[in-house]
Amino acid sequence: MQPTKYVIGNWKLNPATRAQAQKLAEELSLQLTGATCQVGVAPTFVHLDLVKSQAKNYWVGAQDLAHKSGETGAFTGDVSAQLLADLGADFVIIGHSERRQYHAEGPEILTQKIAHAQAQNLPVVFCIGETQAQYDAKQTLAVLDEQLSVLAGLQGDVLVAYEPVWAIGTGLTPSLGEIEQVHQHIKNTLSDLGLVAPVLYGGSVNEGNAPEFGASAFIDGALVGGASLKIPSFLSIIKAFS
Ligand code: PGA
Repeated sequence: MQPTKYVIGNWKLNPATRAQAQKLAEELSLQLTGATCQVGVAPTFVHLDLVKSQAKNYWVGAQDLAHKSGETGAFTGDVSAQLLADLGADFVIIGHSERRQYHAEGPEILTQKIAHAQAQNLPVVFCIGETQAQYDAKQTLAVLDEQLSVLAGLQGDVLVAYEPVWAIGTGLTPSLGEIEQVHQHIKNTLSDLGLVAPVLYGGSVNEGNAPEFGASAFIDGALVGGASLKIPSFLSIIKAFS
């Protein structure tokens, strides 16, 4: 049997209302049939409980978690790993490039977040990726190795998502060959760190490119932003990875 692939929707700061979140969650529950890959979505914290209550056949996870505390405490505005585990979250995304960029999250913060997730047995979807300038300077592999180094010593479940920053929300993607080469490199680096993890691709995955990505033995799944907010598109992508 082929190992399981994963298709995870990152809803980011969408949709605008509870009613819309409920509709997306319900539609996905009803229409998701025959998928052989593991499907998941990551709504905002505010919509997490609602979406979880509708999700019969897919995982529901969080997009982030607090780094200062893994449990409770005087950390205004934060949501901890303990709270997410208590709510029944199935995974947590850590290290998304939008967190790295807009919240200056670097290795120290990311290491804390990973440790908190691990302490609560929350599987981690760990995002890595190079910027356009780093890609142009052919630094991709070195940048990814540096970003992966925070996973050293990890015991719990982790999925790695390779998301070139320049491919996120732009409609651009690396070629299939480039992605395959990078994924092989990531797997080798993980193995040097004593880890085995599925490696997902993210960045402008859509109905058009998903069949090619889904057929590749080097791509263990997709982390999908924009296209995960349209259920027909998301279902097409899921089909391509099933
Ligand atoms: P995109 O986003 O699919 O809209 O490019 C992917 C992501 O940021 O995870």
